[in-house]
Amino acid sequence: MIAIACDHGGLELKRVLCRWMDGKNIRYEDLGTDSTASVDYPVFAHRLAAGVAGGTWEKGVLVCGTGLGMSMAANRHRGIRAAVCTDPYTAEMARRHNEANVLCMGGRMVGPMMAERILETFLLAEFEGDRHSRRIALIETDVKD
Ligand code: RB5
Repeated sequence: MIAIACDHGGLELKRVLCRWMDGKNIRYEDLGTDSTASVDYPVFAHRLAAGVAGGTWEKGVLVCGTGLGMSMAANRHRGIRAAVCTDPYTAEMARRHNEANVLCMGGRMVGPMMAERILETFLLAEFEGDRHSRRIALIETDVKD
């Protein structure tokens, strides 16, 4: 099961992605926001990231205006690897090499068809493990400050 959330800047694209998942019978939980009223994206990013880090959801999708603020907030959580993707190749590599568990997209950046392809790729691509596992461990452990 995956979780999806957005702020006002990502609402329209989140609705597109939810419709796409409905059509594919992909199960997800929608954590909001549900209106165009201005909200603070970190609230939604932290809620989703905490759930993914804690095992409630296997993966997450965050949509704001650019995807950037959502990724910055989500990546503060241990075990979360949130990747902003604007094309399917990046989404594929985010999974295969970086084992990204949160996909971030910008509702003001990518069109609906591209976003659907990005999400599909993110959900299908598998982590390759091997040397990439060592590098991912270093992301968590090799912080010097
Ligand atoms: C909201 O206007 C915008 O700042 C937000 O959606 C996001 O793009 C932040 O990174």
